[in-house]
Amino acid sequence: MSRDQLKQQAAEKALGFVEEGSVVGVGTGSTVAFFIDGLAKMKARIDGAVSSSEQSTRQLQAHGIPVYDLNAVGPLKLYIDGADECDPWDRLIKGGGAALTREKIIAQASETFVCIIDPAKQVELLGAFPLPVEVVPMARSLVGREILKLDGQPVWREGVVTDNGGWIIDVHGWRIQDPVALEARLNQIPGVISVGLFAARPADVVIVGDQIRPKRPL
Ligand code: A5P
Repeated sequence: MSRDQLKQQAAEKALGFVEEGSVVGVGTGSTVAFFIDGLAKMKARIDGAVSSSEQSTRQLQAHGIPVYDLNAVGPLKLYIDGADECDPWDRLIKGGGAALTREKIIAQASETFVCIIDPAKQVELLGAFPLPVEVVPMARSLVGREILKLDGQPVWREGVVTDNGGWIIDVHGWRIQDPVALEARLNQIPGVISVGLFAARPADVVIVGDQIRPKRPL
């Protein structure tokens, strides 16, 4: 089975979490694109969506699914999103698509975060995928120097401007032993908008292909 087929399986399984009449939090990426296509088939049974990116908003609206501002709808029952890496404790690296800040906001605002991945995203230790950090543009060099002090290799994703007007630094070379501590440490650097580590608030459910994966006890 191809990676795309495995992504599609996960996306279809996630449709089972969607409640009648609800507003669904929707992430970003190629796996979520399959989810949005599936959601379109049940659009008469939902109220609409809150979207984590302009890209997902366009796809939702093209299907005729109403997209709401998070402030207008308050806490959500459900958020569905992909990930770039997922460890056995459902902690994630996200932001390969540069949508990490809005993704993190919606994940935090949601009761249940269901993460949909293909098997290649599963890792024992986070960090082989370069960790995205969104920064205020004027802080790019400052944040880069602070990352060097933490033995990371910052690489500016030149030319990419996020939906929030931020820039992205991808940090190479980390094998992340304590993702909760690293997330907190990076969040303290002035100019950091958000960090692509989802460890303080990990996923609640991880679907790999067509299987809901059991979480390893800490
Ligand atoms: C977007 O910024 C990311 O967090 C995506 O959720 C992540 O990159 C997964 O994308 P794919 O589903 O395309 O692999």
